[in-house]
Amino acid sequence: MKKRKNSDAFNDLHIRVPFVLPEITNEDKRVILATLNQNLLTDGPKLKEFENKFAKFAGAKYAIGVSNATAALQLSLKAIGIGKGDQVIVPDLTFVASINAILFTGATPVIVDIDKEDYNISIDSIKKSLTKKTKAIMPVHFAGKSCKMHEIQTIARKNNLRIIEDCAHAIGGKLNKKHVGTFGDAGCFSFYPTKNLTTFEGGMVITNSKKISETIKTLRNHGITKSYQDRFTKGKPWEYDVSIPGYNYRLDEIRAALGISQLKRITQNNLKRKKAALYYNSKLKNIKSIITPKILKDEDHACHLYVLRFKKQGKFSRDDLFTKLLKNGIRSSVHYKPLHTFTAYKRNAKIFDKLINSKQIYREIISLPLYPQITRKQQDLVLKNLVIKH
Ligand SMILES: Cc1ncc(COP(=O)(O)O)c(C=O)c1O
Repeated sequence: MKKRKNSDAFNDLHIRVPFVLPEITNEDKRVILATLNQNLLTDGPKLKEFENKFAKFAGAKYAIGVSNATAALQLSLKAIGIGKGDQVIVPDLTFVASINAILFTGATPVIVDIDKEDYNISIDSIKKSLTKKTKAIMPVHFAGKSCKMHEIQTIARKNNLRIIEDCAHAIGGKLNKKHVGTFGDAGCFSFYPTKNLTTFEGGMVITNSKKISETIKTLRNHGITKSYQDRFTKGKPWEYDVSIPGYNYRLDEIRAALGISQLKRITQNNLKRKKAALYYNSKLKNIKSIITPKILKDEDHACHLYVLRFKKQGKFSRDDLFTKLLKNGIRSSVHYKPLHTFTAYKRNAKIFDKLINSKQIYREIISLPLYPQITRKQQDLVLKNLVIKH
């Protein structure tokens, strides 16, 4: 089979270090082709197998495959009863999909500040932003680092709140050996091409609640009470009910098969990511202008992104660093432009407090290339370009 070119998604041939590099192996290609011979192309045996294996991998009772993580978040919120009039707390530093999912339910997102140390949702801000309308918290395990879930659980317990974890960055991420996504009511994962495991597009919900699992299974399939397979194996195919208007958020068999194949490599690939991240850290720890991400040796950090803080050097800013890296064939990015800066959320969300940390941190962060296949030579080239000479 033909090998993909070792260039990034934009096919820039001068790029020596792409930002991400999805890994589709020959075995991945083989399983994709094999599913083309199945009779059921969606809602079939591969989906069931992927769900079972993912649930086992994450230590959850149930896993429900869906079309992407945005759908996973929306359906999880709906399954716990979030809707109009409710408030859901979300951190300012996350991808727009987190807040969009809240808005799709009709609820009001409440944007809160982040923690200065790990860039995850600030526990203090959660506490201060609580109102009578607060119904849920959506922690996002930013860059693959687990949020302070025990503190969040305590707040939720005291105030009768639900928790939906956005684990898009954190496949394989654990806190005290317990997989993220199992602390709250549900955890939502993304298999978008930049993620640690990809099915091109795809997502998964994990939960220990049978009720949530059943509701999401129904909602992902138009609200129909029987799966496609069940319709043809259990009684008359047209004899089903629609208990609640649902969506088409299914995960097809090709993607599910690819997911099973990728899942076999996730632990090994995450270790490679961590090794590369710790290498950056070891080389950058004594540079005054740089604050490296906190990744502990014995921590199960999913190392999805390598996000460092770059303090302005004279007139040389984070944006100048981005341009310098690009000129030298290195792609980098910024995760993320904070939610409060977007027109749609200025209008439709509640912005809590001054968001001091996220505003400052946003000006200084830069994400460097990080993926299992990154070479020492590529990392050394990145590192060489991080030293700013005046
Ligand atoms: C933090 C976060 N949440 C949610 C999503 C949405 O994932 P998807 O593209 O699978 O809908 C992403 C995707 O990039 C993300 O980074």
